Amino acid sequence: MLKIINYPHPTLTRPSKPLKRVDADLCRMVREMFDLMYTKEHRGIGLAANQVDLPYRLFIINLTSDPAAKDEEFVFINPVLSHPKGSSEAEEGCLSLPGLFAQVRRPEKIRINAYNLSGEEVIYEVDDLFARAVQHETDHLDGVLFIDRLAPTAKLAIGDKLRELEIDFASRREVGEIPGDDEIERRLVELEQLRT
Ligand code: CO
Repeated sequence: MLKIINYPHPTLTRPSKPLKRVDADLCRMVREMFDLMYTKEHRGIGLAANQVDLPYRLFIINLTSDPAAKDEEFVFINPVLSHPKGSSEAEEGCLSLPGLFAQVRRPEKIRINAYNLSGEEVIYEVDDLFARAVQHETDHLDGVLFIDRLAPTAKLAIGDKLRELEIDFASRREVGEIPGDDEIERRLVELEQLRT
């Protein structure tokens, strides 16, 4: 059972490793990620593997967040971004930072090379929301959150909300709901040895 982890969980700041192959288990994992992303609690448009505590370079996108829109579902395995063009600012949120929103500046267009669930190489030139989403998700795989891309004053403005999430994390850890850093790291290394 996958669950979305919240800031400041250490897996969110840990760079993910490229996957070696696509198999039935990975396809099941991806399906579970989509189903989790669509739940009423989350209603997301993108989700990176390390947001469900998996150390793999993989993310999913469905800009409609509509489970019926199957042709809007995209899976990006081992993504590489290049050819950034332009610049635009828009509000972003993140399923791992619930209730937190801020303006983020990013290139307006980008090229993404990746593999899909059939193991085929795919190349897309994307812009607008799609470009923003693939950049936000690729950042996750590098251990970067959108709050890391804010200007110092914008980061100050969300300080209280971040403290709340930090306190929530600490109290969940205290009751044993979240393991210690060493145990988290041990589990991630095991998962890496299986697939990367
Ligand atoms: Co996010």
